[in-house]
Amino acid sequence: MPLSPATETKEEDRKKGKAAVVSRWRIAPPQVFKADGTEWKWNCFRPWEAYTANVNIDMEKHHVPNDFMDKFAQWAVKSMRVPVDMFFQKRYGCRAMMLETVAAVPGMVGGLLLHCKSLRRFERSGGWIKALVEEAENERMHLLTFMEVSEPRWYERALVLVVQGVFFNAYFVAYMASPKLAHRIVGYLEEEAIHSYTEFLSEIDEGRIENVPAPAIAIDYWQLAPDATLRDVVFAVRADEAHHRDVNHYASDIYYLGQELKESPAPLGYH
Ligand SMILES: [Fe+2]
Ligand SMILES: [Fe+2]
Repeated sequence: MPLSPATETKEEDRKKGKAAVVSRWRIAPPQVFKADGTEWKWNCFRPWEAYTANVNIDMEKHHVPNDFMDKFAQWAVKSMRVPVDMFFQKRYGCRAMMLETVAAVPGMVGGLLLHCKSLRRFERSGGWIKALVEEAENERMHLLTFMEVSEPRWYERALVLVVQGVFFNAYFVAYMASPKLAHRIVGYLEEEAIHSYTEFLSEIDEGRIENVPAPAIAIDYWQLAPDATLRDVVFAVRADEAHHRDVNHYASDIYYLGQELKESPAPLGYH
């Protein structure tokens, strides 16, 4: 949109002000370049955080409930699926984008609570704070990717506000009360996410969803080929979800054995 002269002046002033602030504090991130010599565009992740998704991970692995708590976790997740299916039906792009706004919450809440616990108890976390925050960041990258191919409507944005308000607090309380249950719920949520992304893939394969070119951010994040498509992106995201499934069931199993997370090495960089 062309700017009016007055807006242009304001914009110039804003740019000058920003340049002055950057030079005053000297914290501008160093310029980074890609292998092809072009500038790295993303500040939300840097080249050393990019990786190749392990798409060969077992997508079928399932945790068979051990006890009543596991059965409850599985039931809770299955029952959440009913309204989600009714709301989105076959709109998988939109569904993925909306569900990633929820999926990025548990890792951050778990990481926050473990962080506070480490401070309170003067003890190490065994890498679990970092592992859970990494998971949250990875989920947010899924959101940043799907935002490029789907535009939320006003009522979907409103729904996200409500769902985040409820889910953040519910998960916070659940994690305080029983991290074993909280991680088990996320493990089962990830199993459902794998299922949803498998359906998303078959919709693409059957031509009901257009296999558009992959967003640039996804190509850089998963180190995909320059001509990668949405299908490659969904493959990579589904592989990430399978890793989250394993991390969360593993965390819950540690508690099931009567231990604390810090007693077992955290799966850092595992996504
Ligand atoms: Fe995700
Ligand atoms: Fe996930």
